[in-house]
Amino acid sequence: MKPDSSLGENYSRVRQRSVELCAPLAPEDTVVQSMPDASPAKWHLAHVTWFFERFVLEHFDADYDRFDDDYHFLFNSYYYSAGPMHARPKRGLLTRPLLDDVYAWRRRVDEAMVALLEARAGEPELAERAVLGMHHERQHQELLLTDIKHVFSRNPLLPAFDAALPAPPAAEPAALGFVQYDGGRCAIGADGPGFCFDNELPRHEALLAAHGIGNRLITNGEYRDFIRDSGYAEPSLWLSDGWVAVNERQWNRPLYWSEDLESEFTLAGRRDLDVHAPVCHVSYYEADAFARWAGSRLPTEFEWESAARDEPVEGNLMESGYRHPAPAAGGATQYFGDVWEWTSSAYAPYPGFAPLAGALGEYNGKFMCNQMTVRGGSCVTARDHVRPSYRSFFYPDARWQFLGIRLARDAGA
Ligand SMILES: [Fe+2]
Repeated sequence: MKPDSSLGENYSRVRQRSVELCAPLAPEDTVVQSMPDASPAKWHLAHVTWFFERFVLEHFDADYDRFDDDYHFLFNSYYYSAGPMHARPKRGLLTRPLLDDVYAWRRRVDEAMVALLEARAGEPELAERAVLGMHHERQHQELLLTDIKHVFSRNPLLPAFDAALPAPPAAEPAALGFVQYDGGRCAIGADGPGFCFDNELPRHEALLAAHGIGNRLITNGEYRDFIRDSGYAEPSLWLSDGWVAVNERQWNRPLYWSEDLESEFTLAGRRDLDVHAPVCHVSYYEADAFARWAGSRLPTEFEWESAARDEPVEGNLMESGYRHPAPAAGGATQYFGDVWEWTSSAYAPYPGFAPLAGALGEYNGKFMCNQMTVRGGSCVTARDHVRPSYRSFFYPDARWQFLGIRLARDAGA
């Protein structure tokens, strides 16, 4: 979202972006759910619309006329305070409503939203809820791309989401090294005047021990060395839960790599493996095992944020045209916009954390259990989300997001 535009213009731009992202998809593509974590594209288009209707339009107009009552059951995701919902693993069964019905709902909600934003311009709570809805839709744009990649990867034809996506530039990254930090107190959390999510607050102090942090991301080539060194067969490298996952699920390579370790599935279809590009689609367990194999560890989220504050926000983001991690050209440190980086920090509330009031308090806070924090954003993250304080979170066995590895070491290690 551009800060110099009006709320209504920003709203329309965000909504239009979702429609544009779906342009390469046929209606059949938008219905499939390939696993419980990955929602159909049609469901994403509908759910973000539900968010505006439920949390903005109905909140400010008691007489608001819902487009369809059933949609509030079908497209509520996890907001128990907002009413009952259709089961998440069954979203792929929703052949009805039709995609055209969902687009008609979007147009109706858009007309109402633009009218509301104009009629009641300047009301702080309206602006807050509308902006949250816009950032919510931006997060779902990222999910839409990660989820459709998974859908297509399960199809034996390996269709491309967009065969015209250009390949990232080829470049040989700098030698892997560690930037040393003395440690001490550091400030953590959002500090800007712009939007942030509740889980980025309050800003507070953390205490860091002296450490080193990787000067770039781990590459496909380096990860392939781990595989060829029998990394997946050596139990001493793995956390107990990770070793169980490796054996039960027969993991022996990143999610989208071919069996011969020479190619990978991308949003542009199958492509030769770029040994210089960051490895991605690995679980926390795999990232942790790789780090142990490399005589290192993963950074804490506080070490990561402290280091990332010195770095420019640049990278291969959703808006840049090629939706695939790119090599670290010109010594880039790759903190932002290539792959989400696993940290060793459990996803937990900051001291003094206060979730949003009401049903919107379910947005982030209730997930602060049993998940790991990831940082940095990926090549399909919205540009206006990528900042040092941005946090996301996944279960340690998740692999379908663009998830990669940066190493860290204790001082003297
Ligand atoms: Fe959502």
